[in-house]
Amino acid sequence: MSTRLRIDILTALPRLFDGWFGESILKRAQDKGLVEVYVHDLRNWATDKHKRLDDYAFGGGAGMVMLVKPIHRAITALKSERTYDEVIYMSPDGELLDQPLANGLSTARNLLMLCGHYKGVDERVRQHLITREVSIGDYVLSGGELAAAVLSDAIIRLVPGVLGNETSALSDSFQDGMVAPPVYTRPANYEDWEVPPVLLSGDQAAIDAWRHEQAVERTRTRRPGMLDTFGEG
Ligand code: ADE
Repeated sequence: MSTRLRIDILTALPRLFDGWFGESILKRAQDKGLVEVYVHDLRNWATDKHKRLDDYAFGGGAGMVMLVKPIHRAITALKSERTYDEVIYMSPDGELLDQPLANGLSTARNLLMLCGHYKGVDERVRQHLITREVSIGDYVLSGGELAAAVLSDAIIRLVPGVLGNETSALSDSFQDGMVAPPVYTRPANYEDWEVPPVLLSGDQAAIDAWRHEQAVERTRTRRPGMLDTFGEG
């Protein structure tokens, strides 16, 4: 199978990604040749002898700002080699990541993700080089790396062939606008903690109906906004 998705990640801390992409489903996706992930050290594009990537903010204030020049050089170099569907800046004030956003990005061929640090990047990077800004939640991380890893994971597992069972990503919690129903496995009775009898009944229609009810009920209590959005409420 040929590679369906290539992700390039630009970061000042490339080693942070080693463990993540070197293990589990993400590694298998790469080993199967379905996905390629390249982590690039922004310092390769730094121009001064100290390989600086940041400087003080104009106008003063605490915190350093990432320089436009190394980022511009890096993005230009990568863009000269291929066309990117999106150049994404990971930022707490970006568009909030949810399942539909991950679904949309999973059909891309090439994605470039830029991880910010310190106080963020020089605004001109966002104005001129970035096509999309993504946040993984309303909290501030110390850098965009974890956010890029989260976004990559959410996208990669949706690429056809990555998960063993092709239908399993589609039946995930959130894919049909509801959270997942509870799941159980052996033993059926553990220290008097029992499995709902319907799951042991062999009656598939009853099991499906029970799962649907449970999903609706869980969504109502845990993510009521989702039911409004998807019309089950
Ligand atoms: N960088 C710092 N915090 C972040 C967040 N919540 N989402 C994406 N990138 C970030």
